[in-house]
Amino acid sequence: MRAIVVSATGGPEVLTYVDDQPDPEVNPGEVLVDVAASGVNFIDVYHRMGRYPLSLPFIPGEEGAGTVVAVGEDVHDVAAGDTVAWAAVPRSYASRIAVPASKLLPVPEGVTPEAAAAVTLQGLTAHYLTHSTYAVKAGDDVLVHAAAGGMGLLLTQIAKLRGARVIGTVSTEEKETLARQAGADEVLRYHGFADAVRELTGSGVHVVYDGVGATTFDESIASLRPRGMMALYGQASGPVPPVDPQILARNGSLFLTRPSLNAYIATRDELVWRASEIYGWVAEGRIRVHISNRYPLAEAARAHADLESRRTTGKVLLIP
Ligand SMILES: NC(=O)c1ccc[n+]([C@@H]2O[C@H](COP(=O)([O-])OP(=O)(O)OC[C@H]3O[C@@H](n4cnc5c(N)ncnc54)[C@H](OP(=O)(O)O)[C@@H]3O)[C@@H](O)[C@H]2O)c1
Repeated sequence: MRAIVVSATGGPEVLTYVDDQPDPEVNPGEVLVDVAASGVNFIDVYHRMGRYPLSLPFIPGEEGAGTVVAVGEDVHDVAAGDTVAWAAVPRSYASRIAVPASKLLPVPEGVTPEAAAAVTLQGLTAHYLTHSTYAVKAGDDVLVHAAAGGMGLLLTQIAKLRGARVIGTVSTEEKETLARQAGADEVLRYHGFADAVRELTGSGVHVVYDGVGATTFDESIASLRPRGMMALYGQASGPVPPVDPQILARNGSLFLTRPSLNAYIATRDELVWRASEIYGWVAEGRIRVHISNRYPLAEAARAHADLESRRTTGKVLLIP
């Protein structure tokens, strides 16, 4: 099979394309899939850099969609030919992958394999952030950073479905247009955003969804209303330095959480519930999947370089 292999951590150049990897073994409880598209996520960058260490060498990637080609022992509800997707499954930057059946999601009619590869990991994440970490209600004020990114466009659309007013931050005019098309009511640049949020809301927002991290953290805290929720779910600009819990008291008895996807899809029921809502909204046209960049698998390094240098919007896919 074809795959991307990382033998040493580092910059995008360590993503090495190989076309002679053996196909993965299919163990009991697993399913072999021909990959139609692999999703690129920021966590793949952290793995490649060694910021979240993995043992070397490894095939990066956590997400994709494709067609079942073989089914291992003890798997009963999937058959060859089915279209499936997955998230939080390692070794996804490849033309073939063995996926535990417990992690496989059937892709319904009305959702293309590419859309499924684009919306599964970030859709599940946007779902848990808006439904479980902080359950967004009609009339809430919600601040979404990097609102034209993969996560940002989904968070914005889902928060709007739940009746919130969404304030987004972005770095460029093109990104502002995209965030507004996704439903953002107000779109700000990063410089001085906490003051602008206070002007718009009076007392601050109910929740901040912050996947940017180092450069936004302090102002995100300052944007919250008393008892508001700071959901620090990523660190695209770098890790946040240690925090003194007193800042939560000083800013109005705030809540701070650093959530990650696995804890919110810990059971099969929870995984399937979130995925079926997301796929349902896509199939019904209630949320739009914006794929800005598709790269051949062999050009994974270019995909990472573009994602890291803020040149992409929405979702980035690799096509094996
Ligand atoms: N915790 C979880 O469960 C979970 C799951 C999925 C993703 N995430 C996190 O969600 C965040 C977004 O992921 P994504 O894949 O959707 O990426 P993305 O938002 O499409 O891309 C990152 C965006 O962050 C913004 N940004 C601001 N400062 C940046 C900097 N110094 N360097 C790079 N980007 C910067 C850029 O938008 P502007 O140019 O508009 O600023 C950039 O386009 C990441 O932190 C990721 O780790 C967390």
